[in-house]
Amino acid sequence: MRFERRRMRSLAFLLGICLVTSTAVVAGDRQPSAARGYEILRTHPFLPPDFDEEILAALWTTWPEPERSAAEQADPATRRKLTFSYYGLIPAPEDTDGTRPALGYVSDGQGNWIMNCLACHGGKVAGKVIPGLPNSHTALQTLTEDVRMVKLTQKKRLTHLDLGSLKIPLNATNGTTNAVIFGIVLGTYRRPDMSVDLTRTPPPLLHHDVDAPPFWNVRKKTSLYADGHSPKTPRPLMQFILLPEVPLETLTKWEPDFADLLAWIESLEPPKYPFAINRELAAAGEKVFNETCARCHGTYGPHGKYEQQTIALDEIGTDPARWNSLTPQHRQWMKDGWVSRFGQDPVEVNPSGYVAPPLDGIWASAPYFHNGSVPTLWHLLHVNSRPVVWKRTEDGYDQEKVGLEVESFDKVPSHVKVAAHRRRYFNTRLTGKSAAGHTFPNVLDETEKRALLEYLKTL
Ligand code: HEC
Ligand code: HEC
Repeated sequence: MRFERRRMRSLAFLLGICLVTSTAVVAGDRQPSAARGYEILRTHPFLPPDFDEEILAALWTTWPEPERSAAEQADPATRRKLTFSYYGLIPAPEDTDGTRPALGYVSDGQGNWIMNCLACHGGKVAGKVIPGLPNSHTALQTLTEDVRMVKLTQKKRLTHLDLGSLKIPLNATNGTTNAVIFGIVLGTYRRPDMSVDLTRTPPPLLHHDVDAPPFWNVRKKTSLYADGHSPKTPRPLMQFILLPEVPLETLTKWEPDFADLLAWIESLEPPKYPFAINRELAAAGEKVFNETCARCHGTYGPHGKYEQQTIALDEIGTDPARWNSLTPQHRQWMKDGWVSRFGQDPVEVNPSGYVAPPLDGIWASAPYFHNGSVPTLWHLLHVNSRPVVWKRTEDGYDQEKVGLEVESFDKVPSHVKVAAHRRRYFNTRLTGKSAAGHTFPNVLDETEKRALLEYLKTL
């Protein structure tokens, strides 16, 4: 597949992390600061605007029924809430009067909203907003399609995501995104030394959606991403700003900002389970965990010990699309080039499978596995009872099964025709969305699983 220059440019903006207007930049050596990292995330317009307040207020006019009529009859404040809910926009914690941009967007002071990292890395669980929790509600494709439609009626200019999403799907299922493919496309047009070469062609693109991992576990990890191929340093986080028009000297100037972002990410604590825990049962579950699960996921508590391991694909057996989508050539490009400081930072060119992640705060980060295919910890432990198709409720938390409150189906109901509605169903039959694998709980009986489930609440 050949990519012409214009197409590539729009793709280049896709991840929404192009720092064209950053003003927070201080060049040279400075100590990374977690506080500054969060400040940058909340206030800095890293990107050109995605849309403005006027567009936001009109989005409901594109909705199918019954949502459209409900919005039409609502007062403006309610309509705004309905809009946030429709697109998985997370209210910012400091937004007490309902006027601020969603978490994951910053304002340019002129009514424009600009997307940043927290669009995917700021979420809510049981209705509580937590920056660093993956946004398991995001409806990025639906939002972008509707913004494009409203821009056409309001005669406004289409920008990066509006155009990019015509070529590359942003997500097929809400709560997950095709983010890995964005990174691959952007990297394609840079030589390892970061000089631009538009004649380079991307590998065949295997579109698939990934569930972002919770940020609070990054500090326990020695390397990044589902396959652990990438060094835990600021530059890999900058892969998504590799627009052709961003020269190397600008990237270098922005590096301290990304060091601050990483410092903030590594400062985060997992949230505590907010409901009742049966401590006696959990203690029994800890034994089960330490015998069956700890060899890969480590131990927890005051003397807990986690050492990151990658488990071969044929042993773990979870969906292979993520592993297949990122080629050894892409990782070699990283190893040879600027992103890894020319090989000074370790890059794993041939990872065997997926990393067994730390399980701190695991109660909060449903759905599970790298592709977000399993809605609760109960389903994770009951390998043969995982739903084929499921749909979450907005804020429901299933305290019995520990995870998302869902409805399960054999297939997506045939009356669900509108794409925006279909994306609310997680269909494990689609490419990249299998809920198979990780059959390790099969050695346990029901009593052990019950205790283990209780223990997992305590992590
Ligand atoms: C469009 C959604 C999206 C946006 C925007 C986004 N990310 Fe991510 N991020 C993901 C996904 C999905 C993954 C998992 C990728 C994988 O494991 O292969 C990820 C993984 C990560 C990881 C690795 C975590 C781990 O445990 O290995 C870090 C760190 C990270 N992102 C930081 C950032 C930063 C910093 C930004 C902003 C500059 C950002 N992300 C913007 C979706 C996004
Ligand atoms: C042989 C190593 C291994 C063993 C044993 C193992 N796991 Fe895992 N586990 C993994 C890997 C690898 C993943 C990531 C799979 C993926 O995302 O596709 C994972 C994922 C998970 C997840 C989802 C994490 C997330 O953030 O989505 C949970 C929860 C989990 N394991 C719990 C357990 C429990 C409980 C046990 C014991 C019954 C267990 N695991 C045993 C390797 C293991």
